[in-house]
Amino acid sequence: MPHDFMPGLAGVPAAKSAISDVDGARGVLEYRGIRVEELCASSSYLETAYLLLFGHLPSRGELSKWTEDVTRHRRVKFTIIDLMKCLPEHGHPMDALQAAVAALGMFYPGRNVKDVENNYWSAVRLVAKLPTIVAAWARLRRGDEAIPPRDDLEFSENFLYMMTESVPPAVWSEVFDDCLILHAEHTMNASTFTGMITASTLADPYTVVASSIGSLKGPLHGGANEEVVQMLKEIGTPGHAREFVVQRLADKRKLMGFGHRVYKVKDPRAVILQSLSVKLFKACGSSPLYDVAVEVERAASEHLDAKGIYPNVDFYSGIIYDKMGIDVDLFTPLFAMARVSGWLAHWLEQLHENKLFRPDQIYSGEHNRSYVPLNERS
Ligand code: SDX
Repeated sequence: MPHDFMPGLAGVPAAKSAISDVDGARGVLEYRGIRVEELCASSSYLETAYLLLFGHLPSRGELSKWTEDVTRHRRVKFTIIDLMKCLPEHGHPMDALQAAVAALGMFYPGRNVKDVENNYWSAVRLVAKLPTIVAAWARLRRGDEAIPPRDDLEFSENFLYMMTESVPPAVWSEVFDDCLILHAEHTMNASTFTGMITASTLADPYTVVASSIGSLKGPLHGGANEEVVQMLKEIGTPGHAREFVVQRLADKRKLMGFGHRVYKVKDPRAVILQSLSVKLFKACGSSPLYDVAVEVERAASEHLDAKGIYPNVDFYSGIIYDKMGIDVDLFTPLFAMARVSGWLAHWLEQLHENKLFRPDQIYSGEHNRSYVPLNERS
C-alpha cells in the first residue's frame, strides 16, 4: 500500500529513538529525559555525551574512565596533520574536518560494527579527536603549527587552549562547554538522519560521522550560525536592524538563525544561549553584535511571530564564539564537534535495528522510450 507522498519525509517518523525529544509547541528539549536547562546548569559536555551515547548518567567510576579514555585519545596521527597541511588553506573548515574524519577511519580498520568493545573505542576516538582536528585546521591554514592537546585541561578548556596556546578564562570554558551541550543532539535533524542512512548500510562510524558533517555544512542547517554573524556584521548597528529586517522579508529572503521545522516558539537553546552571551559579556565586556541581534529579534517578531518563526539555536551562538575571537567560518565545525555525540548515539542505538534505509519515490518520468542514435538527434 503506497504511503502519502511527504517530501523529505517531513513530519514522518522514520525511526524509534529514546535519545532525545523535542516538544516544538512548548519549546522543550530533553536528552534521555533530562531537560537541557538542567544539563547546562549541572552537567558537562563530556558527561552529557556519555548520557547520550550510553543512555544513563555515568557513575563516578564510569565518568572517571570515560573522561580518562577521551583525554588520552585527543591526539591525532601525525599523518592526519600532514594531510591537512596539503589542503588549500582557503578551503572551508567543514571540508577539512570531513576529509580528516574520513581519513581517521583508515587508522582503525576494525570495522565489525557489531563489536561492542570496538564501538566504544570508536566513540571515544571521534568525541576526543574532532576538537583536535578543528583546532589544528584553524592554525595550519594560517601557517602555524598545530598545538598538541594538554591532558591536564578539561574538554572545553583544552579545545580553547589548542586554538590559542593560552589557557582561557574559566568563564570562557564554562560558557563554551554549555554551548557544546546545547548543540549535542536534536532528534531527527538532517545531519543525524544522514548519518543514520549511512549507518543503515553497516558502514563504519568514521564514515557515518563524515557523511553527517557533509549534511551539517549546509546554510539551512548547521551552516546558519556562520551566516547569522555575517548578517549581523552587515547590519552594523542596532539602528539599522529594523530597516534590514523589513527589506529582507520584503525581498522574500530568509532571516538566518530564525525558524525551525519543529519549534513554533523560541528555540529553548536560543533562550539559554542568549543568557550565556550575557554571562560572557559580564565577564569580558559586551559585543556590539549582541545589541544588533536583540534589535533584529525585536523587529523580526513583529512580522514572524504570527507565523511561528522565532530565533533558533544558531541565532545567538555565533555571537559567543565571535567574542571569544573564533573565526566565523569555524562556527559550524564547533557545531559538528558537539553534535558528534548525538550522531554516534543514534548510530549505536540503530545497530540493533540492522535495517537498510531505502524509501520509495513517486516516478514522474516517461516509460518505453526508444534510444535515438546520435546522428539522428537534433
Ligand atoms: C538547525 O532540524 C533540526 O533540529 C535542526 C537543528 C539541530 O539542532 O539539528 O535545530 C539546527 O538547523 C536550525 C535551523 C538553522 N537554519 C536557519 O536558521 C536558516 C533559516 N531558517 C529557514 O531556512 C527555515 O526556518 C528552516 C529551514 C530552518 C525550516 O524551514 P521549513 O520548516 O522547511 O519551512 P519553510 O522553509 O518551508 O518556510 C515556511 C514559511 C515560508 O513562508 P511562506 O512561503 O509559507 O510564506 O516560513 C517562512 C518561509 O519563507 N520562513 C521564514 C524563515 N523560515 C521560514 N521566513 C523568514 N525567515 C526565516 N528564517
